[in-house]
Amino acid sequence: MAIPQHFIQELLARADVVEIVGRYVQLKKTGANFSGLCPFHAEKSPSFTVSPSKQFYHCFGCGKNGNAIGFLMDHTGAGFVEVVHDLAQSYGLQVPEDERSPAERARAAEEAEQRATLSDVLARAGEAYRKQLKESPRAIEYLRRRGLSGEVARDFGLGYAPESWRTLAGVFPDYTDALLTESGLVITSEDDADKRYDRFRDRIMFPIRGVKGEVIGFGGRVLGDEKPKYLNSPETPVFHKGRELYGLFEARHALREHGYALVTEGYMDVVALAQLGFGNAVATLGTACTPEHVQKLFRFTDSVVFSFDGDSAGRRAARKALEAALPFATDVRSVKFLFLPTEHDPDSFIRAEGTEAFGAAVKAAVPLSRFLLDAAAEECDLSTAEGRSHLAANAQPLWRLLPTGALAQQLLGEIAGQVQIGPHELEDLWGLRRRPAGNYKKESYSGRSGAGQAAKTPKFSSPMGARRTRTPPASRASRALQIALSEPETWERLSQDEHALLCDLPAPHGPLFTWLAGQSLDHGPQPWSALREALRGHAEEPFAVEQMAQLHPDIVADPAELRAILRTELESQLKRQMDAALAEHDLARYQTLMARLAHLKRRAGDSP
Ligand code: GTP
Ligand code: MN
Repeated sequence: MAIPQHFIQELLARADVVEIVGRYVQLKKTGANFSGLCPFHAEKSPSFTVSPSKQFYHCFGCGKNGNAIGFLMDHTGAGFVEVVHDLAQSYGLQVPEDERSPAERARAAEEAEQRATLSDVLARAGEAYRKQLKESPRAIEYLRRRGLSGEVARDFGLGYAPESWRTLAGVFPDYTDALLTESGLVITSEDDADKRYDRFRDRIMFPIRGVKGEVIGFGGRVLGDEKPKYLNSPETPVFHKGRELYGLFEARHALREHGYALVTEGYMDVVALAQLGFGNAVATLGTACTPEHVQKLFRFTDSVVFSFDGDSAGRRAARKALEAALPFATDVRSVKFLFLPTEHDPDSFIRAEGTEAFGAAVKAAVPLSRFLLDAAAEECDLSTAEGRSHLAANAQPLWRLLPTGALAQQLLGEIAGQVQIGPHELEDLWGLRRRPAGNYKKESYSGRSGAGQAAKTPKFSSPMGARRTRTPPASRASRALQIALSEPETWERLSQDEHALLCDLPAPHGPLFTWLAGQSLDHGPQPWSALREALRGHAEEPFAVEQMAQLHPDIVADPAELRAILRTELESQLKRQMDAALAEHDLARYQTLMARLAHLKRRAGDSP
């Protein structure tokens, strides 16, 4: 969505940062400024100041700072476009949307309308389920047996979907309304579209809320041992399991008080923990933890503790979470892993062992650095040279996911120590050493080269072909970034493969593309001016700004050029993978890759 920069400025001119911050933080006048307790980290004495003259807030404790828009984004977790629209509305301004075509505007309006109506439908169903809970002694007894208080049930809006096949027919005037099926509440029979019934029957209902508190879906649990134990809403325009976290809205205040988020695997864990003093718990929705989950969490807190059952499934899930979290593990953030005894999940653990024991377990959680080393050492016999080399090979793809920084640097040293070689030797082994001048310079500044399997052939590091003389001297990854950041529609037009290729690039490029991917998912195409605002305070901000500063003003960033760059890169990536497949005698994989290469070349031929 393209919001003109002049409008943002106008909005910022009207908004008073003191008034806006004051809605959420109790401020006291101290000289020319105002001060209060920082809403972004736990503190006892105020180090958070707001300057009316600069229209800026700054926390001397945690370093968070920004303008009114940035504050609202950080504080409410809302996206840039959303905050701008909300603010504009409160000042009676119309957000100009003239940079979008009428068709785009119509589509966006339609989608927003659809999201709003779906949320209305879901909210109404949630209300009905809540009422039904009050009338079902069986459901109440179930919750009581699980140890839940009426208070926590109310806080989380828990409800009950009765046994009937058509409870919702008594709630909505038109049971055949397409919205009911679109929201996932009503299912139509495959053989006969006229046959309809409620998805959720005889289940305890957990409403799932978006970051603004709107209902976006449900989880439903059986009261006994029937299967499936849990049923979730299907993916809908407002509900994406890979991005949403149960309890995040309910946890928003506690996240600030506790200073960290506790990520669990279950609905019941979240509710039980909230009741017993850990309101900062959230849960993934029966899926593995994704980078989007992690990114979202880091909008609310700088510290995340993942909790897993002690069994092998728990360890597998922890590995996934590790991989999802690594790209976001900047030096100012903390990521830890809590492994519970095999027989426990957080709910059963805290009930059996008590709040203090649980708190102690959280304190003793394993830092990401150690878990990375443990994960890499798994099944490696460190008393042999082979085992230690194996560890190095396991560690490499994980380590490469880390953003550039002190943590990555120290871990490199630790891995080298485990392998019993010097850190410089490990850098050589992984192809990380600084190369003398030339076209490689930009690439080695981050100390990284291609991801995982492509260690020996750094991606994007070959000099630009003389063919493209109009391109300024910048590495191809940087050029790709500049085009993607400056041409709003570019990202949307790329394929999954192309997205993956860009997001998998080593830091600092890959994480910035990943950030852009998240932005595009949340807000659609945005011009650089809006992206620039959204970047404020993010780890990727300095690099993005540096990249855009290098964008030559006379050269048009051409999406076609990006396609050409990507095609070359995808081809060479495929060729490398084919070599690897051959080396492993994996002919099936080789053939699959060859077919993909052929397809890619055909497509290239189609669009010269
Ligand atoms: P309780 O048995 O009520 O304590 O639930 P739990 O959260 O401890 O359940 P469990 O550890 O078995 O599952 C963790 C999470 O996985 C749940 O909260 C659900 O999100 C999901 N899940 C569990 N069972 C099912 C199932 O049968 N179907 C689906 N779709 N998801 C499930
Ligand atoms: Mn449980």
